[in-house]
Amino acid sequence: MKNKTINGKDISKKIRSELEEEVAALIEKGVKPGLAVILVGDDPASKTYVKSKQKSCREIGMESLLIELPSDTPEETLLAEITKLNENDAIHGILVQLPLPSHISEMKVIEKISPEKDVDGFHPINIGRMMTGQDTFLPCTPFGVMEMLKHTGIDPEGKHAVIIGRSNIVGKPMGQLLLRENATVTYCHSRTADMKSLTNQADILVAAVGKPKMITADYIKEGAVVIDVGINRDENGKLCGDVDFDDVKEKAAFITPVPGGVGPMTITMLLYNTVKSAKRTLN
Ligand code: GUN
Repeated sequence: MKNKTINGKDISKKIRSELEEEVAALIEKGVKPGLAVILVGDDPASKTYVKSKQKSCREIGMESLLIELPSDTPEETLLAEITKLNENDAIHGILVQLPLPSHISEMKVIEKISPEKDVDGFHPINIGRMMTGQDTFLPCTPFGVMEMLKHTGIDPEGKHAVIIGRSNIVGKPMGQLLLRENATVTYCHSRTADMKSLTNQADILVAAVGKPKMITADYIKEGAVVIDVGINRDENGKLCGDVDFDDVKEKAAFITPVPGGVGPMTITMLLYNTVKSAKRTLN
């Protein structure tokens, strides 16, 4: 296999070193970019993600504030925390780690975050801005995928992009960003009839289903670009994606691994969005 793996770690490293310089320049001007992360409850996977986000912030010289709340936190308390952060000038980005406990409305929480600090790009105002092509914070995972394509020299224009998954966080915005770059976009999901007949037409296939190794070689067109957004555990507890990497790698022209593919890019784009938010305060 000759260099067909798209290495998210390497691309991330490059972008993060550029961000580190931007952070240093901002600090010179008296603005230290700050990200606040709110974690409700003690889901182990969420804890790991949040720690990784914090560490990444510090590594490039940004400020990182973690607010940990117990799983029985009333919705009102969480909303009040967000209001405080909206008003805190040292905080440029606010991220509430999802999923939230079932007694809290995720939409209410997302809508409480100031759109100007919504570095996840989940607020309906920012989603609207994205859909209409305005300058905004793009959702980090699909944004990261677009950067990976760009850095690999893959232009989506005129290509058939097939997305498996329709979540608000990944699938839906992924299609919009590919459409913006002039791809023809098809969405597949759990109710799609004859999914393979569609995925077999894909020049670019994005898998965001959350099912370990579901995408095998028979889903793939020869020479396709295969982007794996999944983070799952296989039957041995080992980290794996939605794509069966070993089965698909010979048939694909390019493929992203798990780990070391899309994952690092998601955090990198979160840092990018937070730096962007801090820069805006200078204007
Ligand atoms: N949970 C899983 N992915 C994400 C993400 O990108 N942002 C937030 N806030 N929560 C998540």
